[in-house]
Amino acid sequence: MKKQYDVVVIGAGPAGYIAAIRAAQHGLSVACIDEWKNKDGKNAFGGTCLNAGCIPSKALLESSELYYRAQHEFKSHGITTGAVSMDVATMQKRRAAIVRQLTGGVAGLLKANKVEGLAGHGRLLAGRKIEFTAVDGSMLTIDATHVILATGSAPIELPVAKFDDVHIVDSWAALEFAAVPKRLGVVGAGVIGLELGSVWARLGAEVTIIEAMDELLFMADRDIANVAAKDFKKQGLDIRLGAKLTAAAVKGAAVEVSYSDRNGAQSLQVDKLVVAVGRRPFTDGLLAEDAGVPLDAKGFIEVNHECRTRVKGVFAIGDCVRGPMLAHKGSEEGVMVADLIAGEIAEVNYDVVPSVIYTAPEIAWVGKTEAQVQASGRKYKKGSFPFAASGRAKAMEQTSGLVKIIAAEDDDEILGVHIIGPMAGELIAEAVLAMEFSASTEDLQRTIHAHPSLAEAMHEAALAVDKRALNYPN
Ligand code: FAD
Ligand code: NAI
Repeated sequence: MKKQYDVVVIGAGPAGYIAAIRAAQHGLSVACIDEWKNKDGKNAFGGTCLNAGCIPSKALLESSELYYRAQHEFKSHGITTGAVSMDVATMQKRRAAIVRQLTGGVAGLLKANKVEGLAGHGRLLAGRKIEFTAVDGSMLTIDATHVILATGSAPIELPVAKFDDVHIVDSWAALEFAAVPKRLGVVGAGVIGLELGSVWARLGAEVTIIEAMDELLFMADRDIANVAAKDFKKQGLDIRLGAKLTAAAVKGAAVEVSYSDRNGAQSLQVDKLVVAVGRRPFTDGLLAEDAGVPLDAKGFIEVNHECRTRVKGVFAIGDCVRGPMLAHKGSEEGVMVADLIAGEIAEVNYDVVPSVIYTAPEIAWVGKTEAQVQASGRKYKKGSFPFAASGRAKAMEQTSGLVKIIAAEDDDEILGVHIIGPMAGELIAEAVLAMEFSASTEDLQRTIHAHPSLAEAMHEAALAVDKRALNYPN
């Protein structure tokens, strides 16, 4: 370990470790400090995303979906099995192994790029000095020419439902349940509530989700949210809208959940309650009083469009700053900041950050919803194509959903693309690229799409914008 680096990054989640690698690729000397400890007490790089978020949730979503499809879809393919059974312990072992491989992979990548990975706590002092406390308690002050703060986020804890890590839990604990709870309650039908609710419902839990908003997926396009609501209901997810949690009390082995909706006070008994009502920026113990880096009213580190804080040479990226709390958003900010430090011109196009919800069917979008375009006053046209008319989706037995494209009436620019259906999270990449290049729907219409492919639904939706769909009535 040196006492001086060109760049010190605090936090090795997808924002921080990517920034560190990119900075090292520019020939800078880089250290990346991270204090994450897994439930086995071991330090690991990768942050929330790799240890307790994106990756473990997708591992369980995949396992549980296969189990669900084996029970519900195999028959239609002419496949007969004996009784299909599953073993949570094996699923969890697989999840943990994937996490271990990937977090070990980050450590390897840091090393391969000559980034010094330091396990321990980092605290920013005045004058771009960092107080580093190693896991063995030893302390060292490091000088940095540039500092990148990438300390991420933590689950919001509700005063009326304090986590006890056994009955009332956050998303991390809900990813590591050792057995399927018979009755699972979830507070919040946001991204975590829907993904984790899906996992445990597919594995046999009776899942009830209470959501304060009157609409499901208020941030998504209405045509997409309506399909989602129908499909989730069919899958047995009991989503109660306009329902605000008022109390949760552990009684014996169960949790007594109280909430209010338009009919007044309601209650519900569950075996486990997952509270997933959003995340807060995490900056605990990060900033010395004289560090000079202010937070905003919600606790985010204040930054400009280039992720510069008020202190020269100190940047902040990822979940601890404004914008969507998404791994890919943080990573791109990391790349931008490292490039800026190296003297290059760089920016992040915040208008085209894709959102994906990994339910079945998957949901993905980029750009504006129809309601947002309407509110902007811009005249628009739209087209959609249902997966029920896609040969590939039919072959996959996954025909629910649609692709919807919204474009400007005057110059045909694509303003928003919204997908619910198979592989939506993969299909959205074409839309992101198109919008990054300010493509028109005509550009998509004249682009060859392989047949038969799910991507043809994008092509047909683009054609439908001008009432020229070829495989569906306009
Ligand atoms: P983090 O990943 O939170 O990393 C911050 C790191 O900094 C942590 O390791 C922390 O220990 C460390 N740290 C904090 N303070 C200090 C300090 N003072 N000193 C040293 N180290 C410190 N996003 C997606 O894009 N796709 C998904 O599918 C997705 N799924 C998710 C599922 C779940 C259940 C959850 C909870 C989140 C999910 N997210 C997903 C969100 C995603 O995990 C975050 O947006 C992403 O991890 C943010 O990256 P980050 O690097 O900013 O912060
Ligand atoms: P969220 O913001 O997506 O959803 C929280 C939900 O809880 C909202 O619908 C809100 O109305 C509701 N809520 C808030 N208070 C409530 C109360 N008292 N009673 C009932 N409902 C209440 O937050 P979530 O799901 O916790 O996820 C946190 C972050 O993690 C998100 O910002 C998301 O971007 C990220 N994430 C991303 C994933 C992905 O990209 N696939 C997967 C999981 C998380």
